[in-house]
This record gives sequence, C-alpha cells and structure tokens, in this order.
Amino acid sequence: MKRLAHISDLHFGRIDPRVVDGLLADLTAQAPDLIVISGDFVQRAKARHFEEARAFLQKLPFPYMAVPGNHDIPVYNVFKRFTDPFGHYRRYITSDFSPLHIDNEIAVLGINTARPVIMDFSEGRMNRHQIARVREVFCGMPDTVFKVLFTHHPFLPPPDLPKTQLVGRHKLALPALESCGVDLLLAGHLHKAYSGDIMSFHTQIARSILVAQASTATSTRLRNETNAYNLITVEQPTVTFEVRSWEGAAFTGGLVSTYRKQGHRWTLQAQDTGFRPVTGDPVAAAWETADRLSRGHERDRA
Ligand SMILES: [Fe+2]
Ligand SMILES: [Fe+2]
Repeated sequence: MKRLAHISDLHFGRIDPRVVDGLLADLTAQAPDLIVISGDFVQRAKARHFEEARAFLQKLPFPYMAVPGNHDIPVYNVFKRFTDPFGHYRRYITSDFSPLHIDNEIAVLGINTARPVIMDFSEGRMNRHQIARVREVFCGMPDTVFKVLFTHHPFLPPPDLPKTQLVGRHKLALPALESCGVDLLLAGHLHKAYSGDIMSFHTQIARSILVAQASTATSTRLRNETNAYNLITVEQPTVTFEVRSWEGAAFTGGLVSTYRKQGHRWTLQAQDTGFRPVTGDPVAAAWETADRLSRGHERDRA
C-alpha cells in the first residue's frame, strides 16, 4: 500500500499562515509515503515569495516531488519572463523539471506544463519531447505498478464547467497515456477539488485514466471552495481519494471516493463524506448526513 499527499497551488505571497501551519500538522499526522506538489508555489514569482515556499518545503517531514505552475514564472518582469522564466524556481525549489519516482508499487512522473507565453500567462501545454518522456517512462511497465503523471494544468474539466481550458496538446498526449497504461493524472491550477475518469469527457479514449484535481492548499485565492488537498491511497486494484479540507482550525477528512480496477476499467465503488453524527437524535442525524452527502457530491462535481 502507498499513500500520496497531493497538494497544489500554495501561492506563497498570498497565503493564510494558519492554514500553512495546519497543512504541515495534517501532513505530519497522515504520514504519506510521498508528497506530490502540482505547481503555483508562489503568487508573483518574487524572490521573497519563493523564500517562503522554500521554508515550507524544508519543514515537510516526507519526500516530495514538484513541478512549476504558471504563477512560478514572472508576470510583470517581462525581460526575466523570457530570458530566465524559471530562475527563481530553479534556485529555490528544484532544478529537476521532470521528477520521477519508481518503486515496486507506484511510478510517479512530473511534467512541467508552465510556459512563458505572451498573451495568456496562465496557459500551459505539453510538448512532443515531454510526450516521448511519458512513453519512455511508462510504456513497458507491468500492470502491477500504479502509474501516476502529475502536471500543473488539467486534462479534465470540472463536470459543471466543460469549456474550461485544458493543458495544450492534450489530444496528442492522451493516446500516449492510454497506450502506456497510465492510471492516474494529478493536477491543480483551477483551485477546485474533483475526481473522475478521463473517459467521461474525452470520448476518443477507450481506457480508464483516473483524474484527481486538487484545490488550493493554502492560498486565500479561493474559488467558492475551502483550502484542501488530496490524500490518495493506492492498494491495487483499489485506489481511494480523500479530500482533506481546512475547517477553520484544522484540516479534516471530507469526501472519500473509492475506485476499483477491473481489467482496464476503473469503477467508482463508493463515496463517503467521512462524517459521523454524534447527536443522540437519529432523525436529526439522518438529515444532517443527507445534507452533508449532497454537499459532498456538489463539491466533487465543482
Ligand atoms: Fe493557482
Ligand atoms: Fe495556475
């Protein structure tokens, strides 16, 4: 069994310090085998923002892997944006832009999708070299190894926002992910937590690829959702996504989605809000549970 903590969009420079402390405390308590960080470490790519991000990383009690996000590239310093877009990222976070972890149970590959483009700095994409890297790493790996690819930009839109811009060249990348048996895609950028199957949207793909999107873990740039991260438990043929959310004083367990693999298909087995009523009134408890379940489903769709 392996446990991954998937955190994203920290946005140092615009964070709530209580949430940062709470995140460190919860990660320590959950004790994941590996922490995957899918970009947007900082708000404005300034050195002082990156210094805060590095101080956070130095406190992480478990190994971590990371890729940059669009906010990790300078926006206003146009000269730096094009001459050395990842200078601070390289200096303060890592110089490895395609990190890889492989053991007997899981393989995790990160790909940098952030680009210093002119018109829309939030835009991201994969290139042919990166797609070749995905093939090189995952193709030929046995099915017993759970294969995870993480990027900053998403491959699957939120169910209620199907026109959301996805990572560029995803139509080129998805057949490679499909043929190489990638099991799970992790990303952030949208500051929304949801999970699903790539097949539900990309109908040209005939093999299940699970997706887990993370909300922003620590930023005050919230989009109708609380700060949250994903705790992922891989125990083939089952994988469980737990959305752990900031509830004002601590991160607590929220919606849990359990998928099971049968052949090449991942099927949703169960969803549980993790809520356990403590009142003695069974009717009130039932209503509370129903209300929380419906809100949990809303969050999973958002
Ligand atoms: Fe972000
Ligand atoms: Fe982003």
